[in-house]
Amino acid sequence: MAPKRALITGITGQDGSYLAEFLLEKGYEVIGMVRRSSTVNFERIKHIQDKLTLVSGDLLDEVSLIHILREHRPHEVYNLAAQSFVQTSWPQPVFTGETTALGVTRLLDAVRIVDPGIRFYQASSSEMFGKVVEVPQKETTPFYPRSPYGVAKVYGHWITVNYRESYGMHTTSGILFNHESPRRGLEFVTRKISHGVARIKLGLDEELRLGNLEARRDWGFAGDYVEAMWLMLQQDQPEDYVIATGETHSVREFCELAFSYVGLDYRDYVVIDQRFMRPAEVDLLIGDPSKARQKLGWQPRTSFSELVQMMVEADLQLVKEQMR
Ligand code: NAP
Ligand code: GDD
Repeated sequence: MAPKRALITGITGQDGSYLAEFLLEKGYEVIGMVRRSSTVNFERIKHIQDKLTLVSGDLLDEVSLIHILREHRPHEVYNLAAQSFVQTSWPQPVFTGETTALGVTRLLDAVRIVDPGIRFYQASSSEMFGKVVEVPQKETTPFYPRSPYGVAKVYGHWITVNYRESYGMHTTSGILFNHESPRRGLEFVTRKISHGVARIKLGLDEELRLGNLEARRDWGFAGDYVEAMWLMLQQDQPEDYVIATGETHSVREFCELAFSYVGLDYRDYVVIDQRFMRPAEVDLLIGDPSKARQKLGWQPRTSFSELVQMMVEADLQLVKEQMR
């Protein structure tokens, strides 16, 4: 039988790289959409680059999306591309909306035009719950986004539901809570901490400047979460799912564990810096992944402490290599 083909947008990002690895292992032909930039940023996929088909396109350009779908005729499309950094969405709200909200419609519409039978995954976010109205948050919890990014993701979620209901398409919105890894971008708090810890331990820095230490997140490992994306598209009936660990920890706890892993006390190094505070904060996220466990048979495999340890170890290794 011919292999299944999947198109991943955002393949150069954290999740894109893990999903590409996962699908290659399942025997998929993987097509990755990359946008043009003046320097190549294939750092996260260079180890599998020869197994991928990389094509040029952009969520801001619907014609490019139609061309890619016509030429490669994927069976599944995973829309992971987005302006994904919450903090940047305040100074760049319109760009965030163009990419993270309208970009979803462009891709959905391209799928509808080329082949409405293609299965579609939308990377929705726990950031949509924002100022939470229910604890823990589940599929039926109302949204209350607190950032232009969160607002854009709410649009992306509902347009995905709407294409399912309007056109009978197999579209799924995965509401994923925060998931991290050694491949996380350096500006996100977990990676900022693990990288900062490594630099302090190795004598390169003397402090780590952070914002709100009391914010709480439900943090999982990205490598576990991409399996859930795939499982969603294998279901006969498209539905939306919350993917989370069901545990919540504060930024302070993350710091405490990460520093203690290298024998340091975070209180000696962490400095509160107003620049990293947000105009409106999401104070508490904790997801209820029961539906995913029951219907998809999915559950997270990596604990919070294993995640922190994995990230600190990887950054110690990385910083040591950079020092050579
Ligand atoms: P990421 O590391 O920031 O990756 C984002 C990807 O989107 C990159 O490959 C980026 O390309 C690409 N991209 C951005 N704008 C684009 C455009 N206009 N056209 C085409 N590609 C574009 O994000 P991630 O952590 O892997 O997250 C993947 C998706 O899940 C995102 O939609 C994010 O919002 C969502 N999400 C993430 C989490 C989480 O905790 N990680 C939780 C819930 C939802 P460049 O490399 O060229 O910048
Ligand atoms: N980035 C950052 N930098 N965050 C900080 C800092 C800092 O110096 N200090 C404290 N924080 C707090 C933020 O205020 C926030 O409450 C929390 O740490 C997590 O911030 P991020 O790691 O930037 O992630 P996020 O939760 O805003 O967004 C991520 O998760 C969403 C899912 O809930 C991103 O991956 C989004 O794309 C994703 O949708």
